Amino acid sequence: MKRIAVCPGSFDPITLGHLDIINRASTIFDKVIVLVSFNAAKKAAFTVGERVEMIYDVVRDMDNVVVDCNDGLLADYLKRTGATAIVKGLRAVSDFEYEFQMALANRKLYDGAETVFLTTTGENMFLSSSVVKQIAYFGGDISGLVPPQIHDFIKSRLLKSDDIKI
Ligand code: PNS
Repeated sequence: MKRIAVCPGSFDPITLGHLDIINRASTIFDKVIVLVSFNAAKKAAFTVGERVEMIYDVVRDMDNVVVDCNDGLLADYLKRTGATAIVKGLRAVSDFEYEFQMALANRKLYDGAETVFLTTTGENMFLSSSVVKQIAYFGGDISGLVPPQIHDFIKSRLLKSDDIKI
């Protein structure tokens, strides 16, 4: 049986921290689905289409990684696709409480949903999509924070952009 994992997130936008987790998940599982999901607590700066397109640009050469989007419950997506694992990156203790709650909620909704946490690398400890958006909004240097293929698009899209809530 193929071991399919889902890497869910807002990916608004994808960062090098996300990419590191996706890369490592792809060596553990047979197939990885990077899933642009809806987080009711956040207002996105990029459209779902833009986020999917950016991820596609950076994972297109990874053989066992695909991109998808979902505006429903993650647990239902797992049931539908036969995926058995949710892979999340953990940066710090502050991430843990929220991620732990999500993991338990997902398993309550679907007992086949096992959450696997991968610890971030030391250099990505501080990195988040919000940090990227804030730096790009003010015209700062985001190279080294986001994949090079999408660097220019993110910069041009966010510089003093009106519709961005950081
Ligand atoms: O990158 P984020 O914003 O921390 O990712 C959170 C996300 C999108 C993975 C989470 O909000 C999610 O799974 N949303 C889909 C709805 C859902 O299934 N929620 C969990 C049960 S309460």
